[in-house]
Amino acid sequence: MCLSTMRTINYHPETPSLQMIDQRQLPAKLDVLQLNTIDEVIHAIRDMAVRGAPAIGITAAFALALAARLSDADDLDGWKQDLGDAAQRLSEARPTAVNLRWAIDRMLGLATSFQDIALDSARDKMDQLAQRMADEDVEINRRMAAHGARLLEARATVIHHCNTGALAAVDYGTALGVIRYAHESGKSIHVLVDETRPRLQGARLTAWELEQYGISYDVICDSASGFFLQRGEVDAVFVGADRIAANGDVANKIGTYMLALAARDSGVPFYCVAPRSTFDPDVAQGADISIEQRQASEVLALRLGERPIAPEGASARNPAFDITPYRLVEAFVTEYGLIHPPFITNIPATFKEGQP
Ligand code: MRU
Repeated sequence: MCLSTMRTINYHPETPSLQMIDQRQLPAKLDVLQLNTIDEVIHAIRDMAVRGAPAIGITAAFALALAARLSDADDLDGWKQDLGDAAQRLSEARPTAVNLRWAIDRMLGLATSFQDIALDSARDKMDQLAQRMADEDVEINRRMAAHGARLLEARATVIHHCNTGALAAVDYGTALGVIRYAHESGKSIHVLVDETRPRLQGARLTAWELEQYGISYDVICDSASGFFLQRGEVDAVFVGADRIAANGDVANKIGTYMLALAARDSGVPFYCVAPRSTFDPDVAQGADISIEQRQASEVLALRLGERPIAPEGASARNPAFDITPYRLVEAFVTEYGLIHPPFITNIPATFKEGQP
């Protein structure tokens, strides 16, 4: 079993169940989790068995298809009520990635549109929409990758933060998808992989993916990226996003802001790769985005061999995301192509007029 022959998340209406790669186990082992209830899905999202904005969104879509099958309501109103309850609980699983709400709204929009339809056929249509959203996600990632890869020369060194690859989506990935596409088109790409404390998505997941694709890389401490940028060893920075405000401010994995500052100071372009579903026109600016605060234990649990990294009883703070101001972003790479500043006008113009 390897990543290039499987998707991160799958749905099986006949069981009914979701199957997903358990990202908590990587890189030690490639385990597949089977989830049969909405509570199990919520736990998998909260505990980060599945993570990454697009992957969380599609998981929620599949979970609502699952809820549609699990509901024992015998009429359409009761069934819609059960779906509404499941949607409410799912939407609270993690607050920052807007893809979660986007996917739930799209699935609920279909469910609430049903009138005079047999429940079996309503369930089939929910399955079909969720599956279509998963297929679209893969297709969108490939389009973004093709647009983004043009930004890279035949030989390039790139800094990448967190994990934005196939694991963070259904397949292929966003920022890591760009790197993968460039590599597959014959370019010589070297990746400096930010380890991404505290959950180490870079060291554990991105490095594991790069091994599978045969792309050259070095894992670096998050705090080392400024060093390499300043020495002129880096051509570009590529990151993903969990939510992008109307003005272009980016919520992404903690540490992205410092990376963007160092890139700007060194004159290195900072690109953010994200599908339309990550742009949230309802949020005016980054300061209005809800930032997930996770347990202190995630920061303190790391050990140096057998030894703890902090004194017993130490306290810690653990914001999972930060905000990179729009002025530090060179361009967004989307399935519609690149979006350049001024973002406040170019984001809506691209999505209104652009054809993916
Ligand atoms: O906490 P995580 O691992 O879910 O955070 C993931 C990120 O911040 C990614 O950069 C973002 O979701 C984009 S993934 C395509």
